[in-house]
Amino acid sequence: MTKILVATEKPFAPAAIDQIKEVTDAAGFELALLEKYTDKAQLLEAVADAAAIIIRSDKITAEVMDAAKELKIVVRAGAGYDNVDLAAATERNVVVMNTPGQNANAVAELAIGMMVLLARNSYNGTAGVELKGKTIGIHAYGNVGRNVARIAKGFGMEVKAFDPFVEDAALEAEGVTPVASAEELYASCNYISLHIPANDKTKGSINYDLLNKMPEGGVLVNTARKEVIDEAGMIKLMEDRADFKYISDIAPDSKDVFAEKFEGRFFFTPKKMGAQTFEANVNAGVAAANQIVAFLKEGDVTFKVN
Ligand code: 3PG
Repeated sequence: MTKILVATEKPFAPAAIDQIKEVTDAAGFELALLEKYTDKAQLLEAVADAAAIIIRSDKITAEVMDAAKELKIVVRAGAGYDNVDLAAATERNVVVMNTPGQNANAVAELAIGMMVLLARNSYNGTAGVELKGKTIGIHAYGNVGRNVARIAKGFGMEVKAFDPFVEDAALEAEGVTPVASAEELYASCNYISLHIPANDKTKGSINYDLLNKMPEGGVLVNTARKEVIDEAGMIKLMEDRADFKYISDIAPDSKDVFAEKFEGRFFFTPKKMGAQTFEANVNAGVAAANQIVAFLKEGDVTFKVN
């Protein structure tokens, strides 16, 4: 029987698994689960006879693919696929897909939620600030960026965006002011919400010079990837500018430096939490299962990324 493996170090909500199973049962496939694994050896063993794997931020390397002799498709239930070795997959004739948009609202709600938390000094009883009337810059206007913009407008924020792949007219139609460069975005916004992918071009690209363009009281909100931040530059900026704050959905490698030096000026989730809602788990998990069924039964390669 064709085996579909869900390999998630950070598990889906149980109801999402139930709904994924409904899809795979109806297609006549077997569903196997490897959740909360702690060791790569467990993953290597579990993939051995899997034709398809559903993952989250789990790393699918050449080694994992070599251990998966039956593997035809990997679906990243989510947006970013920097955790999959695409070149190795292509070499081995393995299709890689993501499920764009399925967890976008969850990530956007976390971004805004963390902004409110920090604006209110983590509800410690002291006077904070409001989001209304402030300007937010969306750095890359994809599915998450668009949802952040929608919610920010509800808070009465002015919304700007920089995305070279989106037409100005499309932004304007959604009440968002386009700007021509990242530098211009950072220089003109109180908050920046990051939504760029992590790749060779973007890793370390959010650096001291760019961040230092933000006006006094600037806040960077990172629900993208920690790798896009130049951490040494970020720490220097936090040292040079006592007004600057950093919020991130997953702590930087240098989180101890932040704890020691920058109390009250940062917030980090202990584990990446943006997509960790019941709704996002169901949406992304079921989409992944449906995409696998459509690929294995009909050769449908919509959402293929390699
Ligand atoms: C994504 O790229 O979809 C998000 O970062 C969510 O990642 P997760 O599935 O590991 O929570």
